[in-house]
Amino acid sequence: MDDFIRVEHGAFGVSTLFIDRPEALNAVNRKILLRLKEVLEELSQDPKVRVIILRGAGEKAFIAGADIKEMMPLDRSDAAYFSRLGHSVCMLLEHIPKVTLAAVQGFALGGGFEFALACDFILASEKAVFGLPEVSLGVIPGFGGTIRLARAVGTAKAKELIFSGIRFKAQEAKELGLIRKVYSEAQFFSEVNEVALKISKNSFSAVIAAKKLMNEFEESAGTHPKVDAEIHQFASLFGKQDQLEGMGAFGEKREPKFKGLP
Ligand code: CAA
Repeated sequence: MDDFIRVEHGAFGVSTLFIDRPEALNAVNRKILLRLKEVLEELSQDPKVRVIILRGAGEKAFIAGADIKEMMPLDRSDAAYFSRLGHSVCMLLEHIPKVTLAAVQGFALGGGFEFALACDFILASEKAVFGLPEVSLGVIPGFGGTIRLARAVGTAKAKELIFSGIRFKAQEAKELGLIRKVYSEAQFFSEVNEVALKISKNSFSAVIAAKKLMNEFEESAGTHPKVDAEIHQFASLFGKQDQLEGMGAFGEKREPKFKGLP
């Protein structure tokens, strides 16, 4: 399929939304973000849909982040647009009147991890690998990572993860409180489906009332001004030596040499 997005509707209102670009480990570009927004808006209006499982195609990755090769030449204004687009997808995942589950198998890095953090909760297989490696590319998380990771694990632990850019596995995600359990690889997607079915068979109006209320409690911490601040900071790093070096090095498959100059 040319738009890299696929939806499969299952029984009892459980739908699976695939990011289908396995050759680039499901990295999300502008076209995918725009289509994802459209599809989430459509699903939002569909009364038959109750639970949306977000997953990547293939076995290697959930989503390995925003498309670094597409981002590399962006100027500040295009980078701000890109970040705002990613944020709007995350806002939809967070606020859509459906339950959103991130089913993470393999890499959930950068924007991919940020999508997972925007879902109602994350289910992870033993092969899941999480991380926000943006500083190793000369930028910062641009789809809400500085906000939602801090909210999920606390500011100090989020700082350690964001400043180091390290990758960590499902067991550590469990210890951090990001996930409730680590699922075996073999049974993973059938277990995810079981979780989704359990939710969809409950009173949907009650589940969505709980979701709305819990989101309102989170919103009282003032997410919106933080989103604008993150977009501004993300975009301000574009065109600088470190961003060009970091993203250039990724494309050239070498280690970056940062100067840290403005
Ligand atoms: N963007 C663009 N292409 C990507 C990509 C990404 N985020 N992640 C992987 N790919 C591509 C690779 O370039 C490669 O393509 P080619 O075959 O054409 O070279 C293909 O996917 C397979 O990847 P690798 O060969 O690198 O696979 P690997 O097993 O050796 O490594 C990996 C896997 C560790 C995930 C590595 O691909 C990687 O580090 N990817 C980048 C992860 C990352 O930094 N994500 C954050 C992006 S920035 C961001 O998301 C900003 C934001 O907040 C909005």
